[in-house]
Amino acid sequence: MLKIINTADGSNSLYNDIINESYHSVNGAIQESQHVFINAGLSQFSKKEISIFEVGFGTGLNALLSYIFAENNSKKIIYNSIELFPLKRELYAQLNYANILGQNYSHIYLKINESQWNTNINISDYFSLNKIHDDIRTVELSGKYDLVYFDAFSPQVEPELWTYEIFEKLYSSMNMNSIFVTYCAKGDVRRNLQKAGFNVERIPGPAGKREMLRALKATSFKL
Ligand SMILES: C[S@@+](CC[C@H](N)C(=O)[O-])C[C@H]1O[C@@H](n2cnc3c(N)ncnc32)[C@H](O)[C@@H]1O
Repeated sequence: MLKIINTADGSNSLYNDIINESYHSVNGAIQESQHVFINAGLSQFSKKEISIFEVGFGTGLNALLSYIFAENNSKKIIYNSIELFPLKRELYAQLNYANILGQNYSHIYLKINESQWNTNINISDYFSLNKIHDDIRTVELSGKYDLVYFDAFSPQVEPELWTYEIFEKLYSSMNMNSIFVTYCAKGDVRRNLQKAGFNVERIPGPAGKREMLRALKATSFKL
């Protein structure tokens, strides 16, 4: 059902043959995550402590890239990520992200994946992790987040996750002057985000995609 694939930048992803969709862009898993979530999201903040909520922990690639960003930039990151279907060790342990990003990250990548669910874990002084084993459709969010990584499967596959109701729930759990980023640029998604209160912009997408969406909970695009 899940098989490991190679993407164009040499990094692996997973392909789910039931829904016919991969976890990342086939044009490059690392390049997509870096472009959409780190460059368009995390790197936009000037403050020292950033609270993140991710929809779809998956392989933990976004978590690893955020950890690397935190360490390299001396930023404290409080990383919360929800996942309904955690991966088995036999899958994530085979993925080549640490080979590409630097072998010294292989133990961190395993630590991120192996850390207990529904518990706050200090991965390092700069990175704390809470993986939530739950369903984004029904979970009650209690945090106040600066940044949301919306990394669900596409609206074609899981339309029930790209709704006004879910975006409104996320909007309510975000601080003022916070950012929501997603790889998707569909018009329906943009309109649902706007209805939920976000100020939405289309910005250049990662390799292979013209555009992506960035949405602000703020009165202007000044951060
Ligand atoms: C595109 S993949 C995420 C990729 C991930 N961010 C990564 O870096 O590997 C989408 C993820 O959302 C998860 N998911 C699907 N439905 C969900 C739901 N209702 N609630 C929470 N997670 C869900 C899937 O199991 C999958 O891991």
